[in-house]
Formats: sequence, structure tokens, C-alpha cells
Amino acid sequence: MNEQIATIQSQALELIAAASDERSLDDARVSVLGKKGSLSLAGAAIKDVPKEEKAAFGQSLNAARTAITSALEEKQIALQEIADRAALAGIDPTLPGRSLPTGALHPLTQIRDEAIQILRRMGFALADGPEIEDEYHCFDALNTPADHPARNEKDTFYFNSGKLLRTHTSSVQIRTMETAAPPIRIIAPGSAYRRDEIDATHLSVFNQLEGLYVDTDVTLPDLKGTLEYFFREMFGTSTEVRFRPHFFPFTEPSFEIDVKLQIKGQAPRWIEVAGCGMVDPAVFESINATRKDNALCPESVTGFAFGMGLDRLAMIRWAIKDIRLLIENDTRFLSQFA
Ligand code: PHE
Repeated sequence: MNEQIATIQSQALELIAAASDERSLDDARVSVLGKKGSLSLAGAAIKDVPKEEKAAFGQSLNAARTAITSALEEKQIALQEIADRAALAGIDPTLPGRSLPTGALHPLTQIRDEAIQILRRMGFALADGPEIEDEYHCFDALNTPADHPARNEKDTFYFNSGKLLRTHTSSVQIRTMETAAPPIRIIAPGSAYRRDEIDATHLSVFNQLEGLYVDTDVTLPDLKGTLEYFFREMFGTSTEVRFRPHFFPFTEPSFEIDVKLQIKGQAPRWIEVAGCGMVDPAVFESINATRKDNALCPESVTGFAFGMGLDRLAMIRWAIKDIRLLIENDTRFLSQFA
């Protein structure tokens, strides 16, 4: 190899080896391979080399360039590794990452959505009504006279205006029947309010799902079949459901529905999950009187209604022993439903 080029190469390799960071490596590269770098200048001198030596000179040049370029590349990688290691100093990259907690639907929302899904498949449409109600829609129109105990100041939240927080979603039955004409098939999930003593199965603000079906030939077997199907879909076929005769002013006959709650280590017990019955003709009559089309004439229409406690359904579905867990927002409890 040409002596001059050999010297340039060995000096260049020393410079590269001595470079301690990217900056000095870059300086080394420029001083050798740059436009005015030592190797570039030596290469430019090829024109002065005697013809017969040109080929050998050119080979030397190329060999030197190859050696220097690969030394530069290796050093570049080595420096990068050192820089990476320095950036990670004090950090253990093998530690597991911090996972972000993902949100999930509240169990009450889950049970409400499921109930809606089942009933929509049966042809029920969603309806809505206000939580701040008047006495007419909450009581009078539901055949619940002024002296009925449900209207007691001590049991119901009244505003000074005379309005009240609805004690049940049955008011939506009335609001729907005021305008809709049969066949009517609606469900109305929503909050209800009572001055109940709060305990393991009672809250003063709770969640109901009202249902109403009005047509020309709705019968008690329709009511029973619909609700039995609902509970089988909701809780599985092995769940025990019982209908117990009861009284509601706005249905006749009326029933309460109990479902068996089985909590590990406890004796199974019935808990009440819904009230239901055949719409009392007195209800049709009073609404029909406010309409001009006679569409709800008690002689020509029949219907059934039901009101379920969504919180109670959640208790049964997940064997929750205290209803208060559903409103305490304790993520240790709620994360189990995520
Ligand atoms: N509104 C009743 C309650 O809250 C339940 C019910 C609804 C009963 C519809 C019969 C028909 O207890």
C-alpha cells in the first residue's frame, strides 16, 4: 500500500478509536473523509501519480476508505450503546409496566341494560318521564286517593310547590297513556324516591324499571308468561320465581314477585323484586276521560303493568348481600364487575 495513504489510514483509525462521543467522531470523519479531509486530499493527488502506479494508488485509496468507513460505523454503534445505557442508568427496564386502570360499567348500569335488551326483544319500547312529578301523575291518576298511606308526608319527598320526587316509575304509565294509543308496549327505567329506612335491602333513592302493555285482549297469562320469560332470561332457568297475591291501587289482580337469593354460607331467602298486575279499569277510565278519542275505553282495552327493582335484580344476579354496596362507590367492590 502507498505509504502516505497507509499513514493517513492509521492516523484516522487512531482518531476514531479516541473519539469519546458523537461530536468528536464526526470531527474525525470530517478531518479524514470531508472535502478537505486528509484522505480526500491524498485522493485528489492521483492526477500527479505516474500512469503505471495509478492503479495501485487507486486500490490503496479504496482499501483505506473502506477500512475507515467501517471503523466509523462500528464506533458509531458502540457510542450509541454507551449513550443508551447512560440514559437508562437507574432505571430497571425489566420491571413490568404500570397499567392504566380501565373503566367499566357500574353493575346497576349493566343490569339495567340487560333488562332493557330482554324486554326490547319482546317488543317493548323505551319511554321516559320526569323524576320531579306532580301528585296527579304519581298518585291520583293511578287510582291512589288522597288518604292513601303512600302519599303520607313521612313517606314521600315533597317540594314546597306541591310537587314531589316520584315514589315509583308508575307515573310513566300515566304519561304514556295520556298520548299513546293501543297497542302500547313500553318500559321505563329510572330513579324512584322514598323515605324508607335504609337497610340491607332498602335505599331512599333506588332504581326501577316500569313496564306497561295495553291492547284489546291482554290477559293475566300474558303477564305471567312475559315476566317468567324475563326472569328466566335474566337469571337462568334454574332460578326460582314466585308470584304472591298483593294489593296495588292501580292493578287488579295484583302480585308481588319474589326471586330466591342464594348467598354462599347463608340459607336461601326470597327477596321481592317486582310488583305487577292487570291495569285497573279505573285507571283507564280516568285517563280516557282526559282524551277525546276514547282510545282507552275500559270496555275495550285491557293491560298489564309491572315495576321491578333494578337494585334488587343486581343483588340476585351477583349474590350481593347488602344493597348499600351498590351506591358506596367503593372500587374494591365495583372492580369485581369490570
Ligand atoms: N309501582 C309499584 C311499586 O313501586 C310496582 C308496580 C308497578 C305494581 C306496576 C304494579 C304494577 O311498588
